[in-house]
Amino acid sequence: MDSEWIPPEVDSRRPSVARVYDFLLGGDHNYASDRDLATGLLRVEPQARELARANRAFLRRAVRAVAGAGVAQFVDIGSGIPTQGNVHEVAQSVAPDARVVYVDNDDVAVAHSRSILADDDGTAILQADMRRPADILADPEFKRLIDLSEPVAFLLVAALHLVTPDEDPAGIVARLRDVAAPGSHLVISHLTHEAQPGKTAAIGKLYDRATSPAVSRSYAEILRFFDGWELLDPGLVYVPLWRPDEGDAVDDPERYLVFGGVARLP
Ligand SMILES: C[S@@+](CC[C@H](N)C(=O)[O-])C[C@H]1O[C@@H](n2cnc3c(N)ncnc32)[C@H](O)[C@@H]1O
Repeated sequence: MDSEWIPPEVDSRRPSVARVYDFLLGGDHNYASDRDLATGLLRVEPQARELARANRAFLRRAVRAVAGAGVAQFVDIGSGIPTQGNVHEVAQSVAPDARVVYVDNDDVAVAHSRSILADDDGTAILQADMRRPADILADPEFKRLIDLSEPVAFLLVAALHLVTPDEDPAGIVARLRDVAAPGSHLVISHLTHEAQPGKTAAIGKLYDRATSPAVSRSYAEILRFFDGWELLDPGLVYVPLWRPDEGDAVDDPERYLVFGGVARLP
C-alpha cells in the first residue's frame, strides 16, 4: 500500500470490508489481513472479483441513468475506497455541475477520498455511520452541497448488507425517503441468498471477523427497502441485468449473488 494513504488510527489486523473490496477490484489500499479474508472469499466464490466488478458497473450505469433523468445531487453512502468510475466522475460526465457527498466510516476510504476530492468544491467526504442517517443529514458539508428541496439520489450500493436486522436497515432507508423531494432516486444493490444459499452463508461466516458483517437477504426483503418508491425498469434484478450496456455479458446472472434496483420517489 502507498504509505501516504495510511491514517495512523487504522487497525491493520482486522479485515476491513472497504479494503477487501478494494483488493477484489485490483486496488492497493489493503493489508495482509484483508488479503487473507479475500483469499478465503475467493475459495468460497472463485468469481468474487467478477462479482465486485459487476456491482461497480451497475453503480456506474445507475448513476448515468439518474443523472440523465436530471438529478444533479448524489449522496453515496458506504462509498468505499475511490476506484475507477467514482460517482462524481460519472455524474459530472452527464451533468457537469453535479454535486456529490460521499459517506463512509472506514479510515482508509475516508483518507483516500479526502485526498482525491481536495480540489473539487462540488464534492465532499463525510466520515459517518450509515446506521445514524440523522448525523449525515445534519452534517454541515452535507448541508452545503445538498439542497433537499430539490431531487437527490441516495446510493446504498453494496452497503445495506453490512447492516444487521437489529440495526434496522429499513429504518435507514425510510429516514432518507422522508427527507427526499419528489423526483428523488434511490439506488440499492444487495447480497442475496436466493440462488446459492450455501455460498452466501459461507461468505457471511467469513465476514464475522471483518469490520462489518455480510448479511444476505431474500428478494422480498430487499424489495421492501423500496417501499414508497417506484422502481424503474427493469425492476430489482441481478446486477448484470440492470440496463446492461451493449455487449455486456448477462449469462447466468444469478451467479453474481447481488440484486440491484433504481427507484424514483413519486
Ligand atoms: C462493499 S463496499 C461498497 C463500495 C461502493 N458503494 C460500491 O458498491 O462500489 C461497502 C462500503 O461500506 C462501508 N461501510 C460499512 N459499514 C458502514 C457504516 N456503518 N457506515 C458507513 N459506511 C460503512 C465500508 O467501509 C465500505 O467502504
